[in-house]
Amino acid sequence: MARIERRAPAKINLTLHVTGRRDDGYHLLDSLVAFCSVGDRVEVSDAPGLSFAVRGAFAGAVPSGGDNLVLRAAELMAARAPMAGAAITLTKDLPPASGIGGGSSDAAATLSALSALWSVPLPGPDEILTLGADVPACLEARALRMRGIGEEIETLPPLPEIHAVLVNPGCAVSTPEVFRALENRDNAGMGALPAWTSAEELADWLSDGRNDLEAPALSLAPEIREVLAALTVQRGCLLARMSGSGATCFGLFAGQEDADAAATSLGAAHPEWWCRAGRLT
Ligand code: C5P
Repeated sequence: MARIERRAPAKINLTLHVTGRRDDGYHLLDSLVAFCSVGDRVEVSDAPGLSFAVRGAFAGAVPSGGDNLVLRAAELMAARAPMAGAAITLTKDLPPASGIGGGSSDAAATLSALSALWSVPLPGPDEILTLGADVPACLEARALRMRGIGEEIETLPPLPEIHAVLVNPGCAVSTPEVFRALENRDNAGMGALPAWTSAEELADWLSDGRNDLEAPALSLAPEIREVLAALTVQRGCLLARMSGSGATCFGLFAGQEDADAAATSLGAAHPEWWCRAGRLT
């Protein structure tokens, strides 16, 4: 029996500059995106019809109806392979609605896995975008620059070795609400990207950038401030910032040992926080 497995890595917005707004209300972005070795997993295998099962630490938070991005991705694929079926299992280890693209990455992994299982091509870019603005980036799952609302993707050379500690304080933040709370933005994009040769150089360059959604997310979830402060004081932390529309924040580290130690000590000091260390690609 054919069985295909795909990782659905966490997406990290190392920068997220809001550069404008379209007539339909979607915001134009300029974002440096990386992916983390921490993530969810999607497995698909041959079966008579479409079925879906979910397990993992955050299984309980996965919607069972029309909001489930794995099912929506599967339905897009099934429209191209009407006679095909699959049993789909999602292992949900990333906190949902937390700014690290869990749902988008799950959708991308599902598209990719079913495309391989059924030997059918991926849907077109416009159809993929209907699943979520981050899904095209998650299909690449490597360092990239994202512009437009997420549809303009420029993949980048591999990042220098760099590790991230991801911390989520346990409050789900609604992406549309964060965008609605966005008041000030200076419309400046990132300019040209240099070629970074070390974690320190990358972090130094990032410190001139920003996440424009950090201030509006902080107004909705003040816990984020505490997370950023706790990350900043960890030994070896080069930079701390929020990812996406939050509330997950990341700290960047040159070495794996410092990152692992920070994740362990933050988790011990704040048992209610979700803390993970992983390498960025
Ligand atoms: O596409 P996604 O489902 O991630 O977006 C959720 C919501 O976030 C959108 O409905 C929109 O309100 C807002 N959004 C935005 N600009 C983007 C991405 C999302 O305004 N580039």
